[in-house]
Amino acid sequence: MTLLVTGGAGFIGSNFVLNWLAQNDERLVNLDALTYAGNLQNLASLQGDARHVFVHGDITDRALVDRLLAEHRPRALVHFAAESHVDRSIHGPGAFMKTNVDGTFTLLEAARAHWNTLQGDEKASFRFHHVSTDEVYGSLAPGAPAFTETHPYEPNSPYSASKAASDHLVRAWHHTYGLPVLTTNCSNNYGPYHFPEKLIPLMIVNALAGKPLPVYGDGRQIRDWLYVGDHCSAIRAVLAGGRVGEVYNIGGWNEQANIDIVNIVCGLLDELRPDPAGPYARLITYVKDRPGHDRRYAIDARKIERELGWRPAETFTTGIRKTVRWYLENADWVANVQSGGYRDWLSQNYSAR
Ligand code: NAD
Ligand code: TYD
Repeated sequence: MTLLVTGGAGFIGSNFVLNWLAQNDERLVNLDALTYAGNLQNLASLQGDARHVFVHGDITDRALVDRLLAEHRPRALVHFAAESHVDRSIHGPGAFMKTNVDGTFTLLEAARAHWNTLQGDEKASFRFHHVSTDEVYGSLAPGAPAFTETHPYEPNSPYSASKAASDHLVRAWHHTYGLPVLTTNCSNNYGPYHFPEKLIPLMIVNALAGKPLPVYGDGRQIRDWLYVGDHCSAIRAVLAGGRVGEVYNIGGWNEQANIDIVNIVCGLLDELRPDPAGPYARLITYVKDRPGHDRRYAIDARKIERELGWRPAETFTTGIRKTVRWYLENADWVANVQSGGYRDWLSQNYSAR
């Protein structure tokens, strides 16, 4: 049996591929365009492993997706590929519409055509698993109940609007065509292979380089942080036992303000790699806020727990320590992702703040 994974060279996708193959022998075909966020180094440990077939290509390429479905006859398609960074979506929304909306549309159409050719058990067991985000629900007021699966969609950024659009397409392809879909909406992930444009890895990498730690606005915005390995185990649980057509919210029961996250990261670095110049928190610098910045996200993950028995295995204390250690032990990976393109992005996003 085979899974077709999209975006499996990115942060969550590569963690999923590595965890999957560490736990069973089912083959994975991994379709990834290797944008700035995709990195084959994440999958270096799989070199020569016949269970992993990497295909360099774009999810908007219908002919390619058709060929992969016909050739490998996967029992499921797990769709991670996306443009995923809110700040980049503010500077250039076009790529988000192309990959997140058009790309998901292309995959749905290809999957529908393929599924229609299947019969019997193969048809009944096929799944299209769409990996999405809690950001589609918009921003929560302080004290408001956490997002359930029926919370209204109120996306506020070009990124979240594009993901919301893709969620709606997935829903419609189920209701109209009967395509057997599953959707998961997850909160902010952190862990190994996280590209250092996002809050936690950016703070680790900047602190180690003695650079300012840019905190947007007042730093009191709240996110619900989940260790990436727990997101991967939740996806496995939904793929194995989720009810077709259903949505499952995934979260860490771990709401934290950004400034508290930054202080925790600084404290761990003080312990694990002390800086003779003084505590890393001295580098914290408040900068101009993100336009349209969502104030609070929080996930109510009771449905996936009730139906599938999933709960996060990692606490924030254990997960963030593992993460900081991983960055300290993988300086080569960090150096390799800091390309010219990465430096251009830092200058575009931070120099005018
Ligand atoms: P990422 O940006 O690290 O990786 C995205 C991957 O998709 C990269 O490998 C990239 O090369 C690939 N890709 C981009 N455009 C492509 C295209 N047109 N064709 C083929 N491949 C393409 O993203 P991530 O953080 O790993 O997120 C994965 C998924 O999970 C996304 O759908 C995202 O919306 C969702 N999600 C992310 C988070 C989070 O905290 N990072 C939380 C919830 C949901
Ligand atoms: P991010 O990791 O970009 O995830 P998202 O915007 O998808 O939640 O940002 C997490 C939070 O950290 C968000 O409230 C924005 C904030 N942030 C900063 O304060 N400074 C930064 O340099 C970055 C990248 C993010």
